[in-house]
Amino acid sequence: MPGNLRRRSDGLVEPAANRQSELDVYDGGSNVKTALITGITGQDGSYLSELLLAKGYRVHGIVRRVALEDPDHRMQRIRHLLPRLELHSASLESFASLFQVLARVQPDECYHLAAQSFVSYSFEDEFSTLNTNINGTHHMLAAIKAVAPKCRFYFAASSEMFGKVREAPQNELTAFHPRSAYGISKVAGFELTRNYREAYGLFAASGILYNHESPRRGFEFVTRKITSHVAKIRLGLADKLPLGNLDAKRDWGHARDYVRAMWQMLQQDQPDDFVVATGHAASVQEFAEVAFSCVNLDWRDYVESDPRFFRPAEVQLLLGDARKASRRLGWEPTCGFHELVEEMVRSDLERLEDAGERSEGLAEPMTVPN
Ligand code: GDD
Repeated sequence: MPGNLRRRSDGLVEPAANRQSELDVYDGGSNVKTALITGITGQDGSYLSELLLAKGYRVHGIVRRVALEDPDHRMQRIRHLLPRLELHSASLESFASLFQVLARVQPDECYHLAAQSFVSYSFEDEFSTLNTNINGTHHMLAAIKAVAPKCRFYFAASSEMFGKVREAPQNELTAFHPRSAYGISKVAGFELTRNYREAYGLFAASGILYNHESPRRGFEFVTRKITSHVAKIRLGLADKLPLGNLDAKRDWGHARDYVRAMWQMLQQDQPDDFVVATGHAASVQEFAEVAFSCVNLDWRDYVESDPRFFRPAEVQLLLGDARKASRRLGWEPTCGFHELVEEMVRSDLERLEDAGERSEGLAEPMTVPN
């Protein structure tokens, strides 16, 4: 465990310093809101924590025990925030563990971001994806209903719910046709969230978020796989980039923009569901073209087709219509496609150059098979 963290006898993890006085100095008021984030160690959790801390919230996070046991890797994205966060160990699979955290924290707002979020993996293990994602959401909703019914709840739904799309662009009224256990689990979570809103009066909202990326994206997702390989190839550390379906099109935005929409959804008078997207789609091939061109290389010299990365059922095109979010939340994306790709390539180059200079080897943090 990092030096600035300590584990209390009740299993909570908190900064070694006296954090209450630190927080009081930081937010300085009595009307401080408390937020609880599941999936706080992920890309979105880290950006959302930054946003909420900047707004003066007390931010609590739920993490898995394995994260506490391997904080150097698993808490990398929130390392810089650790002194200002309060982390609790619990499991999405255990209603009792979530119930206890919610009862203790009594959050004003809860952002449920944790999930098995890698679509490819959901073909390898449908059962664990469905169990974790559906039960996890159900447990959170049931626990909130029982012990914190005034808490506003955000569910991270996904454009993968549209799957084999009925129309393009998709909006909040477009019918779902999921193409993977992951997509099915998100439809179930979305419907559970709506049902808790309608049946029990919870303030429960879903964000139907399209692909959102950043330098903090996991290496298993195609954008980060591309930008990390581009950087390695530029530095002479790799010579090929194996990919699957190059024709798939996604509506790619920046994660920092998307967490802002999550927060805005919970500030409304009424809970509702919103599509969050840029309204522009690009193919995997176009992403690779732009990424290689950032370092003056031609993608055709390096990208090779690898059957291992094709999916049994593909989602060919996702393109979102976020006009409702624009109208009702005042939300607009600020980062364009080229800017996003450039930021990711630049960041991967810097990371590898840095690691080289420090002679720490070039192992990728948080690497999983991709
Ligand atoms: N991961 C990966 N690796 N994808 C590849 C590859 C490869 O080598 N080659 C081609 N692709 C294609 C996939 O087949 C898919 O069509 C597209 O690239 C994007 O794949 P991912 O980056 O893995 O993301 P995703 O679209 O499946 O899912 C992401 O976005 C969803 C929102 O639409 C995830 O973040 C989900 O959790 C999220 O809900």
